[in-house]
Amino acid sequence: MASTITKWIFITILYFIVKPKILIQGQKQIPCSFFFGDSLFDIGNNNLLVTQAKANYPPYGIDYPDGPTGRFTNGRNIADFLAQLLGFDKPIQPFATASGSDILNGVNYASGASGIRDESGSHLGDRISLSGQLINHATTISRLGQLISPPNTVNNYLNKCLYTINIGSNDYINNYLLPRFYRTSVLFTPDQYAEALIQKYTLQLRTLYNNGARKIVIIGLGFIGCIPQELANFPTNGSSCVDSINNNVQLFNNRLKPLIDNLNTNLPGAQFIYINTTSISSGDPSAIGIKTVNAPCCVVSSSNGQCGPNQVPCSDRQQFVFWDNFHPTELLNQVTATRAYKATLPSDAYPTDILHLVQQ
Ligand SMILES: *[C@@H]1O[C@H](CO)[C@@H](O)[C@H](O)[C@H]1NC(C)=O
Ligand SMILES: *[C@@H]1O[C@H](CO)[C@@H](O)[C@H](O)[C@H]1NC(C)=O
Repeated sequence: MASTITKWIFITILYFIVKPKILIQGQKQIPCSFFFGDSLFDIGNNNLLVTQAKANYPPYGIDYPDGPTGRFTNGRNIADFLAQLLGFDKPIQPFATASGSDILNGVNYASGASGIRDESGSHLGDRISLSGQLINHATTISRLGQLISPPNTVNNYLNKCLYTINIGSNDYINNYLLPRFYRTSVLFTPDQYAEALIQKYTLQLRTLYNNGARKIVIIGLGFIGCIPQELANFPTNGSSCVDSINNNVQLFNNRLKPLIDNLNTNLPGAQFIYINTTSISSGDPSAIGIKTVNAPCCVVSSSNGQCGPNQVPCSDRQQFVFWDNFHPTELLNQVTATRAYKATLPSDAYPTDILHLVQQ
């Protein structure tokens, strides 16, 4: 009898814990979600391109249900977690393979090695720059015209979607920081470069707005001076990171808040928000069980810093910040997505987080 009651109480508690989750699952908070960006968001758009920036081979995807898919991590990436948090029951499909009514849920345009500047990442091969991704978005919009009736309501549909953009890392990693391949560090001081990126980004964001986007999430750049690839290529002078790189990247990040303030003021109906990666990635990583912050989990190829094909990675992936020399593990992707969606600290998101943005 006692055990029956215990069981009943247990089941009741379980019901109340699990039930709200079941209700939320599959209940989309917005009709559609579009993703633009680089390898932090790419879920397979580079698979058919001629480039070294590919992740559709093992051990990439070792913790993903479908195995290697082109995601540049061991499991799900930030775009996957965000789609899940927004109530989509499957990932938003990559532009390269999205077909039919899939695109009603949105499209993921992100392409590994791509940047705000068209030339960023070109030494690795083909990639779809942010400008190219916006052209692909125009193609999606004309396809939506055949799926949504009457067609003159497409713009109204687009107004309700969420647009999340994670771009700019390759304008440093695969451009400014590689003087062997790119002349930008000769042509621009770090401050001039950050300003030039912001000017181009502003025009690209205006294009997105002109194509019907209203709720737009801009994700700031992380601590690029702390990624294993830069630790391997630049002296740290006793610091745990290459501080000069972090300082230069911060010149770009510092301009993102004024950028969205400007767009929110000048574009009617625009609701841009800024996700502060600096805030999200500050704090003690050991609090979530991380033991290794400066070395990759997989065995990286010395030629490009990506995982060597078929090499056995670390088994304790929950204890690493980095999966390869550039990309966070699934665990870190989950932390970033979760805090972007629902801010833990007030400094995580400005002026509000994604949860509140989609409720407005
Ligand atoms: C290294 O750090 C020391 C002490 O902070 C500083 O004096 C020196 O200029 C630094 N060197 C470089 C190359 O950054
Ligand atoms: C981003 O977070 C950092 C670290 O918490 C903070 O110093 C900075 O002011 C924040 N930036 C914005 C625009 O909120």
